[in-house]
Amino acid sequence: MTGFFTEEFSIEAVNGRMGARVHPRLAEIMESLVRHLHSFAKDVHLTTEEWEFAIDFLTKTGGICTEERQEFILLSDTLGLSMLVDALNNRRPPGATENTVLGPFHVVGAPERKMGDKITLDGKGEACLFEGRAITTGGDPISGARIDVWSDNADGFYDVQQPGIQPKWNNRGVFRTGIDGCYSFVGIKPVSYPIPNDGPVGQMLESLGRHPYRPAHMHYIVTAPGYQKIVTHTFVGDDPYITSDTVFGVKQTLVAPFERIDHEHAIWRSKFDFVLIPAAETASTL
Ligand code: BEZ
Ligand code: FE
Repeated sequence: MTGFFTEEFSIEAVNGRMGARVHPRLAEIMESLVRHLHSFAKDVHLTTEEWEFAIDFLTKTGGICTEERQEFILLSDTLGLSMLVDALNNRRPPGATENTVLGPFHVVGAPERKMGDKITLDGKGEACLFEGRAITTGGDPISGARIDVWSDNADGFYDVQQPGIQPKWNNRGVFRTGIDGCYSFVGIKPVSYPIPNDGPVGQMLESLGRHPYRPAHMHYIVTAPGYQKIVTHTFVGDDPYITSDTVFGVKQTLVAPFERIDHEHAIWRSKFDFVLIPAAETASTL
C-alpha cells in the first residue's frame, strides 16, 4: 500500500485518512459506509453515466423537499430502510404491539376528543367504530394512555394533502384512556392509497415495475407514562395491497378484524388492543 488511491485499495485509501480523534461511533459508521459503498460500485461495475444518473436522482430528491414534503424519507421508506431501522430499534417481546412506519402525514396538535367521538368531518366513507384497550402484556388496563389517531379520507387523501378541500383535522383525534384502559372512536373504514408519486421516488418505483400503493390502514401513536411509545397502524386484511405495501409496513400482528355491523352510527367495527411494555424493557433484556 502506497497511500495513493488505487482501485484495489480504494477502501483502505479513504478509511486510512480518518483522523485519530474522530468520535468512535462516527468512525465506525463511516468506515462501514465507505466499505459498502466501494464494494457496491465494484460489484456492479458502476459506469460513469450511472454514477451521474444517481447524483442527478439524489439532487432531484433534495430539490423536491419542502417543509411539507420529505422525499428522502419516502426514498428510505420505499427501499425498506425505514422499516429496518425501526425493527432494529424496537424489538419487543411476543404479544407486545409492534411498530410500523410513522409516515409523513402525522400532525402534532390534533384535537383531544371524548371517547366515542366521531373523527370524520367530511361526511365521506363508511363509518367504522374503532375500539379496544391499552393493556400490559399481563392484560391489565393502562389508564392515562394517549392515543393519537389519523387516517386518509374515503378518497385516499389525508386532510393535509387537501387543504381547503377537506376540513382541518378531518379523520384525526387524540383520546385518553380511563381506568378501564378502553378507547373508542368513530372514523371510516380506511381505503388504500398511493404514496406521493409525482417525484423522483415515484419515477424510481415506476422504473422498478413497482406500484405506489399502501394497503388501507389506521395510524396510531400510543404513549403512556412508564411505557414504550408505540408508533403503528392497524390494517384491513382483505385489502388488495396487503402483501405488497410499497413501504413494507405490514406486519401480521397488525392486521385487524373489520366486522360488518350495520348499526345506526357505524357500518363496520374494528377491535384492537394495544399491548404496551415498560419503558426500559426490550426483547433483548428479557
Ligand atoms: C403513510 O402511511 O401515511 C405513509 C407512510 C410512508 C410513506 C408515505 C405515506
Ligand atoms: Fe397512511
